[in-house]
Amino acid sequence: MTDDTLDAIMHVMEQAFDPAYGEAWNRRQVGDALTLANTHCVIVGADPARPWRDPRDAAGFAMLREAVGEEELLLLAVSPGHRRKGVGRRLLEQAMAQAQARGSAHVFLEMRDGNPAEFLYRALGFEQIGRRPGYYRGAVGGPLDAVTFAKRL
Ligand SMILES: CC(C)(COP(=O)(O)OP(=O)(O)OC[C@H]1O[C@@H](n2cnc3c(N)ncnc32)[C@H](O)[C@@H]1OP(=O)(O)O)[C@@H](O)C(=O)NCCC(=O)NCCS
Repeated sequence: MTDDTLDAIMHVMEQAFDPAYGEAWNRRQVGDALTLANTHCVIVGADPARPWRDPRDAAGFAMLREAVGEEELLLLAVSPGHRRKGVGRRLLEQAMAQAQARGSAHVFLEMRDGNPAEFLYRALGFEQIGRRPGYYRGAVGGPLDAVTFAKRL
């Protein structure tokens, strides 16, 4: 992991998550995760034809954790100024292709009920496999369910 990788992720992280839900990770949490050999990240810039060079050019990132042939999507985020332009879709497609190349057979993820990210996950073939009632306690407006999705690669 390079400093640029961490800077690029934090550049997006600091803008992408609504503070009301406390879902953003801090720099130390991300740095610690990226030291683990089974944590993988994809970072993209706004222009699919041009790789990002400066951390401030990063438009979005995905982070996955691999374990015995399965992967968990830990984080997916696109900066607000780059949304609804296919960046999230591109990130997930690249992340899933890389997971498949590592030999993983499934990707799992969990999200707060009502997160519009669900539309993207369903569009890419994820199916709901579970629900944890009231799992997210710190959320605005009371506890929210966690919804679990999976996709076979
Ligand atoms: C969820 C997120 C990553 C989507 O990124 P994005 O770059 O805007 O997504 P895309 O442009 O690739 O969207 C592809 C498709 O997904 C669906 N979609 C994405 N965001 C949507 C939204 N807010 N409402 C409805 N559908 C949406 C649409 O079908 C969209 O296609 P369209 O724009 O042609 O209609 C982004 O909104 C984000 O960073 N949110 C905050 C962080 C977060 O909640 N992450 C998920 C944690 S589980």
